[in-house]
Amino acid sequence: MAEILFNKNSTPSIIAIDGPAASGKSTIGKRLADALGYLFFDTGLMYRAITWLALQRAIDLQDEAGITALAESVPIDVRPPSQADGRACDVIVEGVDITWETRRPEVDATVSVISAYPGVRQALLAQQRRIGQRGQVVMVGRDIGTVVLPEADLKIYLDATAEERARRRYDEIIARGESADYNEILTKVIERDRIDSTRDVAPLKAAEDAIVVDSDKLNAEEVFQQILALCKTTHRPFMGFMS
Ligand code: CDP
Repeated sequence: MAEILFNKNSTPSIIAIDGPAASGKSTIGKRLADALGYLFFDTGLMYRAITWLALQRAIDLQDEAGITALAESVPIDVRPPSQADGRACDVIVEGVDITWETRRPEVDATVSVISAYPGVRQALLAQQRRIGQRGQVVMVGRDIGTVVLPEADLKIYLDATAEERARRRYDEIIARGESADYNEILTKVIERDRIDSTRDVAPLKAAEDAIVVDSDKLNAEEVFQQILALCKTTHRPFMGFMS
């Protein structure tokens, strides 16, 4: 009988972090990637970039074919950050840096409609898989452990209540010196979760082999330490067989 060998000292190479809106995936994922010397790749930015482009070009958001064609024809580049202004990645489209545009409230409000289109997901999936399969990567999103990289060595599902997540998003906006309404943010977070978890293709859910981390009563440092500890105790299978 063939049996998989384990290299006890190896750190997981492909790390998937999924979870609902504003659960802290980006903050934790970036810190983890930096600590391990891995690439951080935030897949949400790709959906946000398509949404921003569709809004810019005044494409009707119900025009699934038009938005799918956009996703198929415009390459979205998500790269390591070129500036220390709080960003975790650069988002470049046709040579233009649209990193902060992807965070605008109008994008928040409409991105889930666009990310539910199967053709849009299909167009972005190949690029996400290609980057993920190179390894030494922390990839975050909604469907990384279930669809994009089901072979990931470590899968984390980062969760928190909608109220806690809305509070964090509110604090983030206030810290940037902008104004925000907590109740409005909460309503939008709940609505985005609803659309993300009920869509037909690649809905938001924890993979069966994901480790669920409930971050409700933990600060960012505690979540980071917990996930780092999981990296140390999860071993990557050696890619060979013993007969
Ligand atoms: O930062 P936040 O958690 O609020 O959102 P995000 O990760 O930037 O993702 C924005 C939206 O893109 C999500 O609400 C999903 O609709 C979509 N998304 C997705 O469908 N699949 C992914 N792998 C990542 C994001």
